[in-house]
This record gives sequence, C-alpha cells and structure tokens, in this order.
Amino acid sequence: MKDIEWNYRRWQETEDWSTQGDRWSNDMGGTVAQWYWFLFPRLQRYLPARRILEIAPGYGRWTQFLLEHTEELVAVDLAPRCIDACRARFAKHSTFRGYVNDGLTMPMVEDASIDFVFSFGSFVHMEEDVAASYIREIARVLNPTGNAFIHHSNGGAVYAGDVPRNFSRLSARFVADVSREVGLLPITQELHSWGTPVDEPISCITVLAAPQSKFAGPLRVYVNDHPDAEAAYIASVSELYT
Ligand SMILES: C[S@@+](CC[C@H](N)C(=O)[O-])C[C@H]1O[C@@H](n2cnc3c(N)ncnc32)[C@H](O)[C@@H]1O
Repeated sequence: MKDIEWNYRRWQETEDWSTQGDRWSNDMGGTVAQWYWFLFPRLQRYLPARRILEIAPGYGRWTQFLLEHTEELVAVDLAPRCIDACRARFAKHSTFRGYVNDGLTMPMVEDASIDFVFSFGSFVHMEEDVAASYIREIARVLNPTGNAFIHHSNGGAVYAGDVPRNFSRLSARFVADVSREVGLLPITQELHSWGTPVDEPISCITVLAAPQSKFAGPLRVYVNDHPDAEAAYIASVSELYT
C-alpha cells in the first residue's frame, strides 16, 4: 500500500535525489527530450497559463519548463527536502512559490485561483484516498475555465495483486468517476503500457476540464500500446538536437 507514510519515507528519507529525478527520463533520452518530444506536445494547447499549480514536483524536473509558460507557479509537495530543493533551484524566479503540505490538501492555495494544474510521475504512487482528496482540492482551486493534467497509476485496473514499479492501485475509471462527482469533466485519458505488456496499461494521463473550460466535452480515451517504442524513437532522434 503506497500510503502517505510510504511516500514520505521514500521521497523524504530514502530516495537518492542526486540527479534531481533526471534519471527517470533516461529511457527517453533525458529530461529535455522527454519535455519537448513527449510532454510538451500533450500540454501545448493548455499553455501558457496565468497561474499554474504543480502537485508533487520533486526536485523540479518539470517545474523548470513550466516556469517558462506562466506568470506564477505554485508547487506543493509532502517532502520538505523537495520543496527546499525547488526553492534553491528556482531562487532567481520571482514567479515560483513552493509549499510543504500534508499529502492530502492544499489550504495554501486560494479557491478558484489556478488556471492549470499539472502533475507527472507522482500520482502513480498515490492510492485512491489520496487521489480523491487531491481531485476534490483541484475542483476547489481551479478557476471555472481551468484544466488539469494528471499522470497517475492505472495499476488497480490491471493487477489483482501487487502492482509493479511501486505503482498504486489507482485506476483511470476511479479518477474519472471522482472527478465527475466533484464537478470536473474528464476530457481525455491516455493509457500507457509503459514497461509492461501491451494489454497491461499501468499508467494514464487524465486531463480534466472545469465546467467553463473551452476544452470541456465528452471523454475521449486513447490506449497508447507503444509507449516503449515512442520512448526509443525519442531517445534516438533527440540525441541529434539536445
Ligand atoms: C517520483 S517523485 C516525482 C517528482 C516529479 N514529479 C518528477 O517527475 O520528477 C514523487 C514525488 O511525489 C511526492 N509525493 C508523493 N506523495 C505525495 C502526496 N500525497 N502529496 C504531495 N506530494 C507527494 C514526493 O514527495 C515526490 O516529490
């Protein structure tokens, strides 16, 4: 069970942060390649955004890029060492604000004050109770035209027992259902069999729209059964340009 205590111990106490999380991008040719070839194409229609909230930034692997697309970036993480590292890393950015939270709620973020919520690589380790709490919080802090981009586990839909790679038992269905319950519209879900057989999509990117978002509409689902091939392609071509 990847509960808050497990996450605190893992990221605050035992993780080796010497690469600032860049090692998680190795399969895709590095962090710069993963941002420009994988993440930015999926994010471009939501950016720039006046005020961005990043949930669980770690040492700022994606924050460094998001800061180029916003007037203010609020980052919230349960591990004090992560927020300390981000504050030091982005000390020259007057637009960065980092907060340590309780792993569930974000009282430091005002109601309806955020235009875009981003999280990648973190909800994969969050269980249903934690994800549900954050989705409720996202509904509270998002302005009525805002959107949220959340990369999360789908392990609960695929595996009966333990989920590989320390992923949680969250599922795409659960994220969509809870989002609807709190008044957000799941508009896209991209399922990935990342490092797993094609019929075992272990993770998912869900994009949520607030009710007046210009992107609001019915849910569209894409099963990306070739993320490893996509990663290999990005790693090879990006080598020429990064
Ligand atoms: C694998 S790291 C990913 C960090 C960053 N998103 C990246 O991709 O480099 C997971 C991060 O999630 C944070 N985290 C885990 N559970 C959390 C929770 N319930 N609330 C806030 N942060 C959490 C950890 O402290 C850590 O910074």
